[in-house]
Amino acid sequence: MIAKLDELRAKALSELDSIDTSGGLEAWRIRYLGRKSALTEIPRGLATLPLDEKRATGAAANELRAFLEKTLTLKEEVIREAEIARSIEQGRLDITLPGRPANLGRLHPTTQMLRHICDIFMAMGFEVVEGPDVEWDYYNFEALNIPQDHPARDMWDTLWMDFETEDGRHPMLLRTHTSPMQIRVMEARRPPVRVIVPGKVYRYEATDATHEAMFYQIEGFAIDRNITLADLKGTLFEFAKRLFGKERKARFRCDYFPFVEPGVEMAIDCFLCNGTGCQLCSGSGWIEILGAGMVHPDVLRRVNYDPDVYTGFAFGLGLERMLMLKYGIDDIRLFYSNDLRFLRQF
Ligand code: PHE
Repeated sequence: MIAKLDELRAKALSELDSIDTSGGLEAWRIRYLGRKSALTEIPRGLATLPLDEKRATGAAANELRAFLEKTLTLKEEVIREAEIARSIEQGRLDITLPGRPANLGRLHPTTQMLRHICDIFMAMGFEVVEGPDVEWDYYNFEALNIPQDHPARDMWDTLWMDFETEDGRHPMLLRTHTSPMQIRVMEARRPPVRVIVPGKVYRYEATDATHEAMFYQIEGFAIDRNITLADLKGTLFEFAKRLFGKERKARFRCDYFPFVEPGVEMAIDCFLCNGTGCQLCSGSGWIEILGAGMVHPDVLRRVNYDPDVYTGFAFGLGLERMLMLKYGIDDIRLFYSNDLRFLRQF
């Protein structure tokens, strides 16, 4: 058997020597390495041999295959070069012609913004974590102090996909915000935690210039001993300066979200009119950019964090809104209508 392999090697090499076209080379490859080649047939004939002979022959056959494959690649290169040289000689290939430009793609504006915002928070010590788009009612609502029939559920109309099993109904939905990840992360870890969560969220919503049924949010939260509203303010004001420019002013005003206490909305002074009032800021001089607050003690208790020991803040911002503000885009639908004239501007 081994002798037969040596014979095969010698024959393959001598044939290869006289080949000088890529067509000839392909025929050689099929003959010696193809599905019906002797080399492929050999292992099939091994079954009847004694074990140690079987091993030795198998190994030799594998070695020969590897050797022939390597020789083939080397020869391919030699032939390719020779063929190019021949084409140039015969004037068929004009190497002075300019090459065809490659069609380069780019990152989608929301991806660019998402990475930019994550970079800003990572520089402040936050870690990026992702979570599921499909969520249990418990995480999206219940654990965030929004029980069944709570009026706040109206703020987050969503797409349900509950299902029933023998042990009852399991309410499941497309998450309406990234806040459920507060619960999932806290359940899995002990403080201190400092995490941001970028991701898609969904609303059952008629689309218009400022509403989409799917958009991105970035959630952020930090839990530790002695975290106060001042930490929240410092973190978010610094974020706004890094994203919108050093000269931006920011303000907090009271707002309500069931899972924070107190809750705030944050606004920056309008960069179009510098706070004097214009169409973009509806005359108020301020533009709302996100919701935030101190994590509610009941939420902490639910994940077995002692609210007498630990406190923390949370915030959630809409990614497309940041882009619209930063670039003066007036219709959110532009992001997902695949119009290259729009996308190529970023
Ligand atoms: N999840 C809220 C929303 O989608 C935003 C928010 C996050 C508010 C965290 C407070 C704290 O509207």
